[in-house]
This record gives sequence, structure tokens and C-alpha cells, in this order.
Amino acid sequence: MDKASVLKESGRILDLILKKELNQEEKDRVVSDAVENYTGYVNPAILQVRKSVSTDYSFVEWEDEGAVFRDTHGVEFIDCLGGFGIYMLGHRNPHIVEIVKAQLDRYALHSQELVEPLRGYLSKLVALITPGDIQYSFITNGGAEAIEMALKLARLASGKTYFISTVNAFHGKSMGAVSATGKGVYREPYLPLIPGFQHVEYGDAEAMEKAIKNLIAVGETVAGVIIEPIQGEAGIILPPEGYLPAVREICDRYDVLLITDEIQTGMGRTGTLWAVEHSNVVPDILVMGKAFGGGVMPITGIAARPKLWDKMLENPWVLGSPTFGGNPLSCSAAIGAIHYTLEWDVPGMAAEKGNYIMDKLKELQKQYPMLKDIRGKGLLIGMEFETDEAGFALAKSMFDQRVLVAGTLNNSRVIRIEPPAVITMEQIDTVLTCMEKTLKELKGKF
Ligand SMILES: Cc1ncc(COP(=O)(O)O)c(C=O)c1O
Repeated sequence: MDKASVLKESGRILDLILKKELNQEEKDRVVSDAVENYTGYVNPAILQVRKSVSTDYSFVEWEDEGAVFRDTHGVEFIDCLGGFGIYMLGHRNPHIVEIVKAQLDRYALHSQELVEPLRGYLSKLVALITPGDIQYSFITNGGAEAIEMALKLARLASGKTYFISTVNAFHGKSMGAVSATGKGVYREPYLPLIPGFQHVEYGDAEAMEKAIKNLIAVGETVAGVIIEPIQGEAGIILPPEGYLPAVREICDRYDVLLITDEIQTGMGRTGTLWAVEHSNVVPDILVMGKAFGGGVMPITGIAARPKLWDKMLENPWVLGSPTFGGNPLSCSAAIGAIHYTLEWDVPGMAAEKGNYIMDKLKELQKQYPMLKDIRGKGLLIGMEFETDEAGFALAKSMFDQRVLVAGTLNNSRVIRIEPPAVITMEQIDTVLTCMEKTLKELKGKF
């Protein structure tokens, strides 16, 4: 290591971070640094798939607020991707920032030994806002990590083995989470995965029952069913009416635990605080993430019914003991997010704005048949095209008009509209105008 060079480079970067305003030369330098560093030190392949990088001009994210973010040169985008669901309350919601700053000025991380008041407060609030008798929480840092905890808790509490998941489900990419995930592209490189996972078609309760029944018939045991109330990354797939209640009923009949992954659908995204509320289903374990930290801090977690906690009472560290899980800074953000979400009726905002967008998109669909389907709930909306190419062309043209929309993971055939709930009606109308212009441009080409 050349210590002098490292100090010089890190000092230069810190100056940029600490500056209120960059001059023209610094702005250009940040862009070229970013492209160079991704090429040399992150992964050059990322640059190939980003709409924001070209030889003429590369957009580098630098500041944000509300439903917009700006690049280093002040070019502003309306965010209809919402960080795949993070930004329910907008970017840097001032209420959440205020809370986190206050906590930061007191203490940021925890001693790991003393009892953590904020983790306690947050867990109590989670118990109050989750359905049924869900009571205990285990707080984590990332979505996949939370899924790991859900899977481990189900095995720990039930003493059983198998999980039934669904085809095309997305539950994250750590070893347990990717075992539950139902997309070949993410599973195949890591085979054999964790034993004991079977996948059935989403929306088919009969297939779910058969899988459980047959496993039991051949002497296996089934610990849990893991399911998204609406499949997000699969292309915003809504289950048929009555599906989730049927799955709940099957789980009860065979004494199998129901894990609902609300990492993307939770915190108001679909027009209710939790998407399971649309069908009055109470899961045994509910997984939270993304918007849980109010768009300011990374925080995820699971919450479970008390009967699942017995083994945890014997050894509180048996499930996990993540160093940063439940840290005070993240907990302060989540407490702020819960308060803001309820006080300002964020689920109501999502329902109202989502209906408005869906209605307008359905009108556009009548004029532009290249749009095969419009579906979703609240502000989790999918626009399905015939081909990947058509979806990508739409996303690219929207980006050129400074609106960010994106495909569902590695697939542009379904474009998602997932803006913050605080997006203004004026911004929504701008998005819809750009959408109409783009569809007109693309008409006949796909
Ligand atoms: C439903 C669902 N589960 C799990 C995850 C994984 O979360 P993370 O990317 O934070 O690991 C995601 C991320 O998109 C998700 O949408």
C-alpha cells in the first residue's frame, strides 16, 4: 500500500462529499471518476446495462428529494422506479431525515451488550401494525438476510424441513433466499442449493396442496410456504381472487407455517399497509424491507406469531445475532417511517394515485395495442409488452425525457411504475404525458 496516495485520494473524495456545491470541473470529474471506478473496481458489466451511461453523456446520481433525483449537473428525473420500492415516502423525506439526524447526534450504533431502547420501541410498533397476533420481531439489514431469518425460524419453530415456494418468485440472492427464489437464472449457477425447496406455480392453490400432501405422503416434513402477496420481480403478478386465503387454509390443514414476503409490497405500496390485508390473511411470519427504513436507512426484519418464538426463548441467539441488525440509527428511521405512513395515510395516497395512473394507462392501452396488459395494485404497477425490446425501448425513451421507469429484474417485457407515494399529481401528469408521447413514437415499430 502506498499510504500517501491513499490519503491523497481519500482526502480528495472527502472534499467532494463535504462541499455544498461542486464547480463545473469537479462535476465533470465525478462523472469520469464514477465510470472509471465502475470499470476498474466495481464491475464494467454494470455500465453495459445502464440506460444512464453513454459515450456522449453519463448521468451520475448526486442528489435527491421528494419524487425526484438529480445528476451531478443538475439534470432532474422523476423517479417512477422508487428504488424498487424503497422510496414510498420519497427521497430524503425531511421528517425521516430529522429523526435520523437527531439519533445520529446521540449515538449511531450500539454497544452490542446493553439493552437497546429503540429496537424495543420499533418491535412494539411492528407488533401494533402487523395483522393478527404477530408479536415478536427480529431486525436485520437486508432483504435476503431477513428471508434467511424467516426460513430459519420456520425450521426452528416447526422442527420440519421442506419449503414450498413459487415459480418466478423473488426472495433475494443469498443461499437460503435464492433457494426459495423461483428464477432459474439466479439459481442455476449455485446448484445444488439448500435441500428441501420445491416450487409450484404461483396462483395455483391446488398445486400447493398437492406438493405438501405428496411430501408428507413420502415421509418428508414441510416447515413452511413462502410467498409474495403480489409477485414483484416476476412481472407484477397478482394472484387470482381467493388464492392467499386458500394457501392460508392449506397451511393450517397440514400444520405448515405461512411466510409472506412483504419486502416490496409492504409499508403501503399496494394501497394497504401490508398487501395481505387485501385478503385478510394473517401469516405466521411477515418479512419487511425496502420502504421500512423510510427511504433513508437500510433496515429489514421479520415479525412472527408468539408460538414461533419458543426456541428463541431457550437461546435468544440461535436464529442469528447480526452485528448491525436493529441498530439505533436504522430503528429511528423505521419508527419515523411507521409514524409518517400512518399519520399521512400513505397507503391511501398509494391507492388513490395508483388508481389514477392505472385508469390513464388503461385508456392509453386502448389506443396502443402494443401494450398487452396493465395490472397492479396501489403504486405497484406493471405494463406488459409483447417483447423485451418493446419494453426496453419505452424505458429508454422515458429516460431520455427524464422519467425513470424500469423492467422487472432482468426482463423489460414488463415495465414497472413504482413511484414514491408522495409524487405530486403534476409529476404524475408529466409522466403520463411522456408515456403517451413515447407510445406514439413507438407505434408500429413493435
Ligand atoms: C419480494 C422481495 N423479496 C426479497 C428481496 C431481496 O431484498 P434485498 O435486495 O434487500 O436482499 C426483494 C428485492 O427486490 C424483493 O422484492
